[in-house]
This record gives sequence, C-alpha cells and structure tokens, in this order.
Amino acid sequence: MADIQHQCDVLIIGSGAAGMTLALKLSKSLRIMMLCKEDPTEGSTYYAQGGVAAVLDEYDSVDSHIDDTLVAGAGLCHKDVVEFTVKRSAETINWLVDLGVKFDTRTQSDGSEEFHLTMEGGHSHRRVIHAADATGKEIAETLSDHLARNDNVTVMPKYVAVDLITRDKVGLKGQDVVGAYALNLSTQQVELFQARFVILATGGASKVYLYTSNPDTASGDGLAMAWRAGCRVANLEFNQFHPTCLYHPDAKSFLITEALRGEGAKLILPNGHRFMPYFDDRAELAPRDIVARAIDHEMKRIGCDCVYLDISHKDEAFISSHFPNIHARCLELGIDMTREPIPIVPAAHYTCGGIVTGKDGTTDLPNLYAIGECSFTGLHGANRMASNSLLECMVFAAAAAEHINAQGTALDRPINIPPWDETQVTNSDEDVIISHNWDELRRFMWDYVGIVRTDKRLQRARRRIQLLQQEVTEYYSHYRISNDLIELRNLILVADLMVQCAIRRKESRGLHYTLDHPSMQQNAADTVLTPPSYG
Ligand code: FAD
Ligand code: SIN
Repeated sequence: MADIQHQCDVLIIGSGAAGMTLALKLSKSLRIMMLCKEDPTEGSTYYAQGGVAAVLDEYDSVDSHIDDTLVAGAGLCHKDVVEFTVKRSAETINWLVDLGVKFDTRTQSDGSEEFHLTMEGGHSHRRVIHAADATGKEIAETLSDHLARNDNVTVMPKYVAVDLITRDKVGLKGQDVVGAYALNLSTQQVELFQARFVILATGGASKVYLYTSNPDTASGDGLAMAWRAGCRVANLEFNQFHPTCLYHPDAKSFLITEALRGEGAKLILPNGHRFMPYFDDRAELAPRDIVARAIDHEMKRIGCDCVYLDISHKDEAFISSHFPNIHARCLELGIDMTREPIPIVPAAHYTCGGIVTGKDGTTDLPNLYAIGECSFTGLHGANRMASNSLLECMVFAAAAAEHINAQGTALDRPINIPPWDETQVTNSDEDVIISHNWDELRRFMWDYVGIVRTDKRLQRARRRIQLLQQEVTEYYSHYRISNDLIELRNLILVADLMVQCAIRRKESRGLHYTLDHPSMQQNAADTVLTPPSYG
C-alpha cells in the first residue's frame, strides 16, 4: 500500500485557463495544490488560437453578444447564464490586461492605439480580442508566470487524478467531497490528496474521437470522476467539430483558426468552387455546426479526402502578421498559404456538455466545483459560439473563487482516509488490450457518433461500448493502473454518456444531427443524466 498523503485547503485538478484563473482569484490565505497531467501549460488553453469574445467596441453591445450566443446555441442556451457571462466579458479582459497579457492592437487615424478585434462564425460584430493566432499561449504563459510567484499555490505537474473521495466512500456520513487519489507519473504510485474544497478544471473529452484538434490531456477525466462520485451530467450529445483542421499526414491536431474566415478566407472544393453560400446566407461565417456539416456533406458527395480554405487573395504581409504561427507551420509542411489554399477537414474540438453546475461552479456534491470545459453551465446550448469558451473558463473560475472565498474556511482536522489499495493487483502482462481498445473506441465514435448520426449507428456504438466497458472494468480490477488505463476507462465512460444523451435526443438541433429525426422539436430541453448513486 502506498501511503503518501497531502493536505491542502483547495485542490484544483487542472491547470488550464479555468484552473489557473481560480488559483489566482482565491484568497492568499488558502493553501492550494494544483495537479496537472503534464507541464502546467499543457492543455487546450495553450493551443487556443482565435481569441476571447468580449464586448469592447463602442459600436458593439452586450445585447448583441447575448443574441448571437443564443442564436448559435439553437434554442438551448440558458439565457440567464449567457447574460451572466457576457456582462462579465469586459472586466475579464481588463483583468488579463492588468496581469500583462499582450493582446494585438491597431493604430487609429488619430494615432492612438486600440485593441484589434477579429471576427468569427456566429458573431455579428468584430469582438474577438486576440494575440495574433496564439492567444492561448499568451494567456497560459502569463497566468502561469503569476502563479509561480504565489507562495500559497503548489503546482504539481505529472499527477493524474484517478478518482474523487466522498465521505460515504470512506465509511462516514454524507456525500461531501474530501479529496482525490492521484497517480504520480514519476513514481507510478497513487497518492492521497485531502482538501476542504476540490475543483475539477480538467478540460474536455474530444480525445474520444479519432480526429481531434485537442491535445492528449482532453480525455474527459473530470467528467468521468464526477459521474462516478455521483454528479449529474448534461448535453453530452453536443460534440463540436471544428470545421477547419489542417489535413496533412504530419500535422496531428493542428487547427486553422476560424479567424481566417473572419478575415475573408473562403472554403472551396478541390475544383476551386466555393460551396458555403449554398448552405447558409452567412456562408463561411455561419456557426460551426452548419459549416462542419456542409463540409462533411460535400466530402461525402464528391468522395474527396479534404476541402480547402483559401486566403491567398489577401496581401502576404497581412497574412504573415495576423497568422504568423499558422503561416510558419504550413510552410514547414510545404504549404504556402499566401499563394495556395490550405487542405482542411473537420475534427472533434469541444465538449459542449459536462458536469452540471450552478453559476458559481458548484456541483451536486458538497465542496466539489467544476469549471471550464468539463462543466455544463448552460452557456453554449446546442452549439458553442466561437471564442466563448475561454471567456466561460475565466468568468466561472472567478465566480467559483468568490464562492469559496466567502466561506473563508480552511481544511478542518484531516479525517482518516485509507490509502490507495494495491494489494489485489499485479503488473499487466498484456498492455495491447489498452492500445487496441483505445483505437477501437475512437474509431467507432468517429464513424457512428460523428457529425451525422442515425439511430442504428448510435445503437451500434452503444453495444460496442458495453463490451469495452466489461473488458476494461475487469482489467482495471486486476492490474496496476497507468495513465493510459486511467484515460481509457474514463473515455469509455464518457463515450457511453455521450451516446446515452444522443439516443435520448429525438430531433436534430445544433451539433446533434440525425438522419432519423431531421427536424427540430418546438420545445427545447436539456438532456440530463443522473448517476445510479445520485441522492
Ligand atoms: P484545459 O486548458 O484543457 O486544461 C485542462 C487541464 O486539466 C490540464 O492542465 C490537464 O493536464 C488537466 N487534467 C486533465 N485531466 C486531469 C487529471 N486526471 N489529473 C490531473 N490533471 C488533469 N476557445 C476559445 O474561447 N477561443 C479560442 O480561440 C479557442 N481556440 C482553440 C484552439 C484549439 C486548438 C483548441 C483545442 C481549443 C480552442 N478553444 C478556444 C477551446 C478552449 O481552448 C478550451 O475550451 C479551454 O481552453 C479549456 O480550458 P480548461 O481550463 O477547461 O481546460
Ligand atoms: C479558432 O480559433 O477557430 C477556435 C476558436 C474557438 O474554438 O473558440
């Protein structure tokens, strides 16, 4: 039995925009531990390109940002949550600027500087503030630098949280969350973290699909841990596919930002013909669900491997200054985007559903919060509007910090929690099961639970998931855990929850499009799943 034990007031699992904002906003009197699977900045936040949506232009308005979000969300956004978020957008940007985040500016005719705002799908105004095409890197590095100077925060890289611990799981009364077990990747030992408050800030689950824009950390761990502990989850049928990821054998997960389309890039077929105007009046700037579906339709119709995104009509200097990283990456791969179109395909990008939370990040379990992409706040409805995610991470992290700070209590006397028990397990002699099941899951999720669904495909996926679940549960109870096994177990569970949600929705709405129920029902309702142990 391993028995390394840690105690803190607040345990934050995840160091993306959500986790880091929370840590910086919590009272300095709280002892905080922050776990992350890799280096502190590794996660979707670091790779965010387009920017953060915020009402900063005098001709824009909070009402317009709210309306655009509601339209993109296809009738399923919670209006009060949209208002709550958008009203806090300007103060969120001011906070980042005060911390030293350098957003792009432009010189006005009178010589003064103002923020350069770009345009993305679904927005009726230029309102996306950005740092060239590497906004996430700029934000992640700035927040991380500030955290490194905070004595009350201990960042612990290469720790993978395995499961939450509730009082009832250790034989006490109540469902309060009291900590978590986490695998130390450096020693391969599971350690115990006891805390007064636990926050899940683990990001999304797009790694459940074969093709994704997301980094490897996006394996739905927080979602799975919350479900196993007894939290409800909602709207997991709404997986967002980003329309434009680079199609190239050497370019795993490389996104081509929507801001390219905001600045005039056109989608074309291999024969050079533009097609988006036939699908939607907003053409390339329609919300993502519409653009991804149109691309999927055209690829299937003409049987091509990719379509193209063309911005080569723009000035070379404009392209290389606005999109320096994409320009450089494409050049490395032999594509000169200033002269030729970029080959692209859609890929899984964002998990719109998640752990059900209130506006302060609270979940169904006392002392447990969920913020960022792993949460379901009601903001995104059936389709997240571009650049609303980073905003959500920071707005809800700030609200959760306020809620925790107001309680002002540190960890009570530690309770007696048993260490992780490894007495019944041995080292695996057949890791091929993990890699095989991993590939199988991601492939059938792509084929059966992708951009276009049918009842039959969903049922097929469900049956396969059940088989994988049996196999991996058995494996998990016999062998020592590893990062791959933890992720596979979580991804299978999340896939199951996604498919359950998708099967329940007998209509097509936003990102959930099914050939068997092609129209949208009049009444919009969330799909909420309740775990067997709930209540
Ligand atoms: P992440 O930033 O993904 O961080 C998750 C953290 O959790 C990581 O530190 C990870 O190590 C940790 N973690 C996960 N599981 C565990 C575990 N079991 N134990 C310990 N730690 C764990 N949104 C926008 O608004 N604007 C954009 O321009 C934009 N561009 C994007 C571009 C790309 C390529 C991608 C992938 C996404 C983009 N998004 C964008 C979406 C946005 O970046 C994410 O939704 C957001 O960054 C999520 O932040 P987060 O803090 O919730 O999670
Ligand atoms: C992008 O830059 O296209 C991604 C923006 C987002 O996901 O919000």
